[in-house]
Amino acid sequence: MRNLSFACAGVLGKAALLLGFALLAMQAQANEALARKNNCLGCHAVGTKLVGPAYKDVAAKYAGQADAQAALVQSIRNGSVGKWGELPMPAHPKLSEADAKKLAAWVLGLK
Ligand code: HEC
Repeated sequence: MRNLSFACAGVLGKAALLLGFALLAMQAQANEALARKNNCLGCHAVGTKLVGPAYKDVAAKYAGQADAQAALVQSIRNGSVGKWGELPMPAHPKLSEADAKKLAAWVLGLK
């Protein structure tokens, strides 16, 4: 019993902090699930180059560019070729603008 109440107090004390982390983690997971759902991860990985560039490399290339998110939304929705190599990325016309924005922001936030 004593241990239990200690544990409870500990959890409550850190609740606000944990909630913040949990929300961040959930957001990251939601974005990764969105990427998986749209088959982005068939060609991309966060840290390794597959068919397409590693998302971390994309984040590094566009770091500090104000219009990066809009540019990536364009690339994701309309397709892209020649920025990273010979292989083209097909267009994703069915992806909503809102989802493309979420994915672009997620990619740009990776480190
Ligand atoms: C068929 C393989 C394939 C799929 C599926 C794919 N990509 Fe790509 N992606 C590529 C390739 C290849 C490139 C490099 C294109 C280039 O050189 O311009 C690329 C480039 C990118 C870039 C960088 C674009 C730029 O302007 O620098 C982003 C961001 C990206 N992909 C995100 C996504 C997202 C999000 C999805 C899912 C909706 C996705 N990709 C699905 C192959 C793919």
